[in-house]
Amino acid sequence: MPKPPAYNSLWQVRSDAWSSLEESATQLVLAGAQHRPVEQLGDAIQGLLDVLGPIERFWAFPGIGTFQKVRRLFTAGKYDRLAALVTDINYALATDSFRTIRAGDLDADDDSFDRVVKPMEQVRKDRPYFEVLIVEDMSEPQERALLEEMRRWRRPDDPFTYEIVVLHSLEDALMAARLNFRLQACVVRRRFTHRSRHDSSSLQQFTDLIVADDLMAHSPDDRAQILARALARIRPELDLYLMTEISVEELAGRLSHHYRRIFHTREGSLELHLSILDGVAARYRAPFFSALRSYSQRPTGVFHALPISHGKSIVDSRWIKDMVDFYGLDIFLAETSATCGGLDSLLEPTGPLREAQQLAAETFGSRHTYFVTNGTSTANKIVVQALVQPGDIVLVDRNCHQSHHYGLMLAGAMVTYLEAYPLNEYSMYGAVPLAEIKQKLLTLRRAGKLDQVKMLLLTNCTFDGIVYDVGRVMEECLAIKPDLIFLWDEAWFAFARFHPVYRPRTAMRAARTLIEKLRLPEYRASYEAQAEEIGAIDAADDDTLLKRRLIPDPARARVRVYSTQSTHKTLTSLRQGSMIHVTDQDFSQKVEETFHEAYMTHTSTSPNYQILASLDLGRRQAALEGFELVQKQIENAMRLRDAVDHHPLLSKYMRCLTTADLIPAEYRSSGIDQPLRSGLPNMIKVWEQDEFVLDPSRVTIYIGATGIDGDQFKRGQLMDRYGVQINKTSRNTVLFMTTIGTTRSSVAYLIEVLVTIARDLEAQLADMSPNERAAHELKVLRLTAPSAPLPDFSGFHPSFQDANGQPTPEGDVRRAFYLSYNDSYCEYLTPEEIEQRVENGEQVVSTTYVTPYPPGYPVLVPGQVFSPEILAFMRSLDTPEVHGYRADLGYRVYVDKALEIAAPGANRRPEAAPESR
Ligand SMILES: Cc1ncc(COP(=O)(O)O)c(C=O)c1O
Repeated sequence: MPKPPAYNSLWQVRSDAWSSLEESATQLVLAGAQHRPVEQLGDAIQGLLDVLGPIERFWAFPGIGTFQKVRRLFTAGKYDRLAALVTDINYALATDSFRTIRAGDLDADDDSFDRVVKPMEQVRKDRPYFEVLIVEDMSEPQERALLEEMRRWRRPDDPFTYEIVVLHSLEDALMAARLNFRLQACVVRRRFTHRSRHDSSSLQQFTDLIVADDLMAHSPDDRAQILARALARIRPELDLYLMTEISVEELAGRLSHHYRRIFHTREGSLELHLSILDGVAARYRAPFFSALRSYSQRPTGVFHALPISHGKSIVDSRWIKDMVDFYGLDIFLAETSATCGGLDSLLEPTGPLREAQQLAAETFGSRHTYFVTNGTSTANKIVVQALVQPGDIVLVDRNCHQSHHYGLMLAGAMVTYLEAYPLNEYSMYGAVPLAEIKQKLLTLRRAGKLDQVKMLLLTNCTFDGIVYDVGRVMEECLAIKPDLIFLWDEAWFAFARFHPVYRPRTAMRAARTLIEKLRLPEYRASYEAQAEEIGAIDAADDDTLLKRRLIPDPARARVRVYSTQSTHKTLTSLRQGSMIHVTDQDFSQKVEETFHEAYMTHTSTSPNYQILASLDLGRRQAALEGFELVQKQIENAMRLRDAVDHHPLLSKYMRCLTTADLIPAEYRSSGIDQPLRSGLPNMIKVWEQDEFVLDPSRVTIYIGATGIDGDQFKRGQLMDRYGVQINKTSRNTVLFMTTIGTTRSSVAYLIEVLVTIARDLEAQLADMSPNERAAHELKVLRLTAPSAPLPDFSGFHPSFQDANGQPTPEGDVRRAFYLSYNDSYCEYLTPEEIEQRVENGEQVVSTTYVTPYPPGYPVLVPGQVFSPEILAFMRSLDTPEVHGYRADLGYRVYVDKALEIAAPGANRRPEAAPESR
């Protein structure tokens, strides 16, 4: 029996059930032939049919008719025929070959489609296949007639082929949207019911997605609208079509933003068929990839500085022929820098590249999307430069990626660092609590500097998978500062758009939701109720504003949201392929031009077209199969978690960290410790209400009990011995990321490797002498004891702070950074010397970023003062890599003279020192 559906894995339960059914049916035949008792096998088959019963109606293949036939053969005791049929179905499902079989062929009396299989009329086997949902309460004969009618329109040169699933109710339609990842379109007809006529109790975990109030009380048009909205919440990419008998024109006016097309029922199904194909073709289009491909096939004479173009410098070379052997010729045929002849310019796109970016904007739910060919490191710098002027205050998580530190430094921002909550036990940070953000904003308000505040910059989700309540953060901040701009670094989160539970916590969806909310009369009413209670926010005291959830003034708040995503990290793209998504209500008025300048500043004039084409294809894939891939990714992550936590040997040495480990209870109002493990409804609840949630696809394994530290585990064990690549460790943890590229086999291999490591460890422990054992236990003790507390940001030296008005924490990192270009202002001090000075009450100031890896965030930034906590923390580290620290010389710090020169009001012209760079 397959396990009951634990986490949105019905598709997996389904495929396991068909495999088990084949196995049991085959056994049944054998047992019969050998006159062995068959009761037990019979019970197993009955159980499997009961599992499949409620699920099969959501899929076109093998189709509910065929499934009923399987049941009939079983009940009638025709086990040979049952086994043959089930084997064929399972084979077709497992190999995806059902795509070339006509649904319904299996209903033929021959039973086994090995004998009746007809390749779909003139079907090209490589033609993409999808399924279309039709929602209408119709009888079986009507259903059959409709399917036949739709099939009649197929043509050999159709670009795609599809089969149809008919369901009768809203409840069924929503479950299908959730379960059947092959659906690409949904046709809503006027007559459908609210409740399913089937018993769906085994699918209960999906039923809380169902619209609560009874639809039947609404008019048919309203019902169509409610269904469209509910479907779009689950699968915004589905093409929705409405077929109606009355007043199409009027409906088109009212419902056209929910439905791609509205048809009159009597006008027949050809238009519908063509529209369905056209809708999928619109997402399938990859304009830049297509342009590059056709360009690469044209003979060209290249007199551009690009010898590799069309492979010219390689194919006739005597010495680098293996380059073609390895990469293949196509990649060189596509090497070009042409901006015309069907291609386009990244710096000023007007053709296929522009279209590709527009398609990406649709897919990722932004108003504008820009492709970036040098990773999110560059994307971040572009956004910051486009929006921040020297002197603007930017609030930023200190643990953000280095590209922000450098970007803000280059932009000349006054940087206010925000503190994330620490996880000392694992030597890592969580995310920045909303209370900390509000507190910092209110401090700036008190100092009269709110006008200078430009941007809030946060990482969503963090490397370790902590996800913000993006919408809530923006609402509350906009209540205090209505024109604040948000940059959400979603380097790790591009995939999140394609799963209904993740999506609301993405920057682009939250921005859209906020724009819509701000327009609602109910929202204005809530704001007015708040004003009634606490008066104007500008006049309310800090305490009041900190304690309550704030609603921004809809008349003043502007939604200005940017997100940067490393497409290459979580979706399909060549390395460095990244996107900037923009939903900024003031973009065209205030930003477009500076954005263009910033884009020009950081973008190569020779961008890599292969990367751009891969972004275009990555977008196509996400638009057509993102939902399926992300579901499978989560499922694989849960398999990994289960395998580690339930394995008797592994669980002795390793443990997957849970939501409760990584997010303190104060940020989890739901009180649920392991959301996904306790079922999808719990996960939905937690993702709706908790301040922070954990992305289940990131699996952090605690390895303290092995006595091997994270870095050694990664290099010495995983990488060198077994070729397993990971990219993040802490002192006592290793992070395994599952992505859309993770397969069940790769999870199985990882488990195999972990078990081997644990076995080796067991063997070593058994052979250890008492002294060796004591040394090992000491190592374990060191790894399992909490580390020295992670140090807070100690503060900027006053020379780099704003001298005007009340002192506030922001600092001028650019000034602090460039001052050190003059060597005579700097000296190296050993940690001991610094400790001595700090003890004497002197201020020692770093000239540069000091970043130990791991954990990988700067413990010191230019202009920051050393604190006893920082020194203690650095002392406790045994990481081999500390950027910005020279083991031979020590820390580079400012001499007093430099700090005097840098002090506000001092003559800051650097001396023309000979050693200045
Ligand atoms: C949070 C965050 N932002 C940005 C980046 C940089 O992204 P890319 O590697 O695409 O340049 C990273 C890279 O690890 C990151 O972790």
